[in-house]
Amino acid sequence: MTASGPPPVDGAPAADAHQAPSRRAAEDHPQEPRRIRAMFDVVAPRYDLLNDLMSGGVHRLWKRRLRRMAGRPRGRGLALDLAGGTGDIAAQLAAGGWAVVVCDPSEGMMAKGRDRRAGPRMRWVGGDAESLPFADGTFDLVTIGFGLRNVLDRERALAEMARVLAPGGRMLCLEFSRPAPLIAPAYGLWQTHGIPRLGAAVSGQPEAYRYLVDSIRAFPDQTTLVAWMQRAGFVDVSYRNLFFGIAAIHGGTRSVEAS
Ligand SMILES: C[S@@+](CC[C@H](N)C(=O)[O-])C[C@H]1O[C@@H](n2cnc3c(N)ncnc32)[C@H](O)[C@@H]1O
Repeated sequence: MTASGPPPVDGAPAADAHQAPSRRAAEDHPQEPRRIRAMFDVVAPRYDLLNDLMSGGVHRLWKRRLRRMAGRPRGRGLALDLAGGTGDIAAQLAAGGWAVVVCDPSEGMMAKGRDRRAGPRMRWVGGDAESLPFADGTFDLVTIGFGLRNVLDRERALAEMARVLAPGGRMLCLEFSRPAPLIAPAYGLWQTHGIPRLGAAVSGQPEAYRYLVDSIRAFPDQTTLVAWMQRAGFVDVSYRNLFFGIAAIHGGTRSVEAS
């Protein structure tokens, strides 16, 4: 890490005490961590290209919106981009002045990101959202883009995000969500026929893109995510729909009282 890079982040012990019994019987779960990690390792070389093709570049606008909502660096100016993958969001935050730690369990995704986007304000750390390797109150901002959907225990991950945020720190979650009824039928057709075919053709990994569609459909709606965030200790929770609710950015503040 260079002098202008992010300050050191202390390791925190894994929170095994919170291991839910259902996790031990979760090997067949769609979000089983080892399988998810292996899947992202395999799709990593074509991940950025497919993102552009499948969204027609719209994901870039959504990420720009996220960056605007993140605002200028506050506090120590240290951000965590969780499930940061190839560092797309982190690079935007770094360009806006944040020192960013990208955290992701897929070494393949991060290796691709380091090749394309490494910079003095970016640092890369392997880790799982359910048990973050950072001390309490480390960050002033936590972002997670298209990541929460892939986590087995999402509420535990949200509690971890609240834990590693400094009191008053902000969390922003960009994720696919529940579209408005007006566009739901057309979007459903694209999900069923377009995404798996395009994904298979470009990445050669049809399974990964079937998983993408299934995980989008299974992810809870906007108001459920609001309730989860509130339970995890966030206050001032709200969301903005993007493109009629195909995606949404949820934001919350780590309450000062919880510290
Ligand atoms: C769809 S990609 C999003 C990458 C990046 N945030 C973006 O918007 O382009 C999902 C990322 O979530 C990561 N991921 C999957 N399971 C995770 C977990 N349990 N904890 C943290 N990240 C996870 C994957 O490795 C992958 O890089």
